[in-house]
Amino acid sequence: MMTGRTLFRNYKEYDQKEVEICGWVKSNRGSKKFGFLVINDGTFFEPIQVVYDQEMGNFDTVSKLNVGTAVIVNGTVIVTPDAKQPFEIHAKSVEVEGECPSDYPLQKKRHTLEYLRSISHLRPRTNTFQAVFRVRSQIAYAIHKFFQERDFVYVHTPLITGQDCEGAGEMFQVTTMDLNKIAEEGKVDYEQDFFKKPVSLTVSGQLAGETFAQAFRNIYTFGPTFRAEDSNTTRHAAEFWMIEPEIAFADLEDNMILAEQMIKYIINYVMEHAQEELQFFNKFVDKGLLERLNHVVSSDFGRVTYTEAVKLLEEHNDEFEYKVSWGIDLQTEHERYLTEQIFKKPVFVTDYPKEIKAFYMKMNEDNKTVAAMDLLVPAIGEIIGGSQREDDLAKLEERITELGMKPEDYDFYLDLRKYGSTRHAGFGLGFERMVMYATGIANIRDVIPYPRTVGKCQY
Ligand code: 4AD
Ligand code: MG
Repeated sequence: MMTGRTLFRNYKEYDQKEVEICGWVKSNRGSKKFGFLVINDGTFFEPIQVVYDQEMGNFDTVSKLNVGTAVIVNGTVIVTPDAKQPFEIHAKSVEVEGECPSDYPLQKKRHTLEYLRSISHLRPRTNTFQAVFRVRSQIAYAIHKFFQERDFVYVHTPLITGQDCEGAGEMFQVTTMDLNKIAEEGKVDYEQDFFKKPVSLTVSGQLAGETFAQAFRNIYTFGPTFRAEDSNTTRHAAEFWMIEPEIAFADLEDNMILAEQMIKYIINYVMEHAQEELQFFNKFVDKGLLERLNHVVSSDFGRVTYTEAVKLLEEHNDEFEYKVSWGIDLQTEHERYLTEQIFKKPVFVTDYPKEIKAFYMKMNEDNKTVAAMDLLVPAIGEIIGGSQREDDLAKLEERITELGMKPEDYDFYLDLRKYGSTRHAGFGLGFERMVMYATGIANIRDVIPYPRTVGKCQY
């Protein structure tokens, strides 16, 4: 079976040749003597145009085929230098694989993204989502390629865990206990539970990733993570994928260099391999997309410390809903202002106050800030969060106790600082935010096949 991808890329080679293609009818315009079927074959962004006429035995049936019908077409490729599409197929036969009634929701008109979200099982058939999910797949591949080319080891960290890596208490608990029974009895007995203790879905694979970095030096994870954040925004999902590299014998500077190279590699990869999709996004979704992506790959990312960033932002406090002062956690409005108005390109913010960052980050000499880095990008805000890790056993123990965490839960983690501790650093890239960034799609719900957000778990 021929694919649209092969045909579009090499149509001249197939001129006058017979091919068989299959796919779904996107539109069907017929007259008494001939008609045009436009077919989405799923392998390429552009649909294939098929011309049929009365020489075909089932002309009457074909001319009445509804949008959405699954068909198999045999015919001759004809290159059409003067037409909009580079070639068409003159059908010898059109066979119906699966009929489609006329109440098919995806008729030929533009639907809103909101409406399409309500039919997530059908939306992959639309232009927009064909483009989004093909680019999503390519970005995943580019990420593996980037790390594998650099000899990083891919580690599969557990999804069910007893630790709260980020210490933010936003975990989904995992249990086999009957919640109704617990409510009736008014007490929880973990002896009745599968793991005999409270466990949750992971918010990050970092801690387990660090243990492997202390053996392989350079590793990465790439898997689902879960957060029960009560934030109903366009950038938060309860189930999202994260890429977490961890590098040993490395510091914050090495970490930033790696992050910048990775982002540029991904964007270059997509610009090379998904040209048609990016052009579509640039035309219909975000008119500044291509210019922005070109700018990202050709400029050096900005760098600013949290303290400097706060000074810059304080000058614009009258423009913010939430006022900026040293010590606050930067909000999306501040992050976007920094990257869109002040730097006008991606920018690393480093050295945040320890109070607003996780326990594992390396304390700076000032004893007030930690060696953290967030990468902020226009239109999204934070896309990466990372840090150099505290590698000093005593300081790490002190921080764990200070935060009221239980040191015994982190024995394995503390061992890393005991047995041949090294400087090390790492970061987490939010995969969906990366897809948003590369496509210009503004809502995280539109870059995940089946999004899970506050109050929503369809299918
Ligand atoms: O900044 P975060 O919380 O960092 C960590 O989890 C570290 N353990 C990473 C590391 O150092 N290995 O999350 C990392 C990134 C964020 O920058 C953001 O892009 C994404 O994960 N992210 C989310 N994406 C979608 N929905 C959510 N609810 C997200 N929370 C974080
Ligand atoms: Mg963060």
